[in-house]
Amino acid sequence: MPDIVNTEQSQAWNGPEGAHWAHNQDRWNAVNEGFDDPLLDAAGVTGEDRVLDLGCGSGQTTRRAALRAPRGHALGLDLSGPMLAEARSRAEREGVANVSFAQGDAQVHPFEAGAFDAAVSRYGVMFFADPVAAFGNVGRALRPGGRLTFVCPADAMLNGWVTAMASLREVLPVGDFGQPGLPGMFSLAAPDRIGDVLAAAGFVDIDVHQVQAYGTWGQDAEDAAEFLLGTGPGRHLMNLADPTARARARGILSDHLRAHEAADGTVRLLSTSWLATADRPTAAA
Ligand SMILES: C[S@@+](CC[C@H](N)C(=O)[O-])C[C@H]1O[C@@H](n2cnc3c(N)ncnc32)[C@H](O)[C@@H]1O
Repeated sequence: MPDIVNTEQSQAWNGPEGAHWAHNQDRWNAVNEGFDDPLLDAAGVTGEDRVLDLGCGSGQTTRRAALRAPRGHALGLDLSGPMLAEARSRAEREGVANVSFAQGDAQVHPFEAGAFDAAVSRYGVMFFADPVAAFGNVGRALRPGGRLTFVCPADAMLNGWVTAMASLREVLPVGDFGQPGLPGMFSLAAPDRIGDVLAAAGFVDIDVHQVQAYGTWGQDAEDAAEFLLGTGPGRHLMNLADPTARARARGILSDHLRAHEAADGTVRLLSTSWLATADRPTAAA
């Protein structure tokens, strides 16, 4: 069994949250894949690069990194057994041979020192209990001059799925969507904190800027509402509600999402993220 210090996260991503993501992987990819090109472009992944994908989940970004580095290799690391099983079978099905996947906690995983040219992550680095320790561990896995690049959510209310959930306030006890600083989706929502954490972890040439992408959340408003209410925050709120409030919540959310239906009926919501890049120093500091 690998070393795990983020035990709560491990339980969540090997429990209901991981099961939901593994089961709905196509949907989550349709939601988030707009960030892959900005991420991999900023990482400069190419040719013979050895790439580490942090919190790879079901591995779409890992596979895309591997395709950009045909003579190199991409390793996806994740806490979640169910999501890694999905990642392995998808890589095999798609015939992407230069990938591998490992179960582990990025904060303490015993990476070989200097083994990677690039470390990337699509929404996998916000859950560390000790982010300075975690990014320090990742830094040691990079070769001198190697680059860390990740996307993480910016301010909650700049994300269409959050404003959609906030429309439920009149019937459900919708609270804050995570607090900056605490492990969770919005822990790195403050760009100054990203800079501080990466500098404390030993990175240099740190840059953080905003990127936006539309994702597809459902075939129509009702489908997207059902999906959103099945996510972790959605399940939590629905479990607190009685049947009448649940039915009203479905209606309110569907009405909100209908305004975001495209011409083909699909629901498209804008997500706003930080794209962070930082380098391991070339000379030992
Ligand atoms: C929001 S999901 C994103 C998954 C994937 N990158 C994607 O975009 O589909 C976050 C992922 O980070 C993983 N994760 C959270 N904390 C981790 C840690 N300490 N070490 C490795 N993986 C972690 C979770 O298991 C989960 O798969």
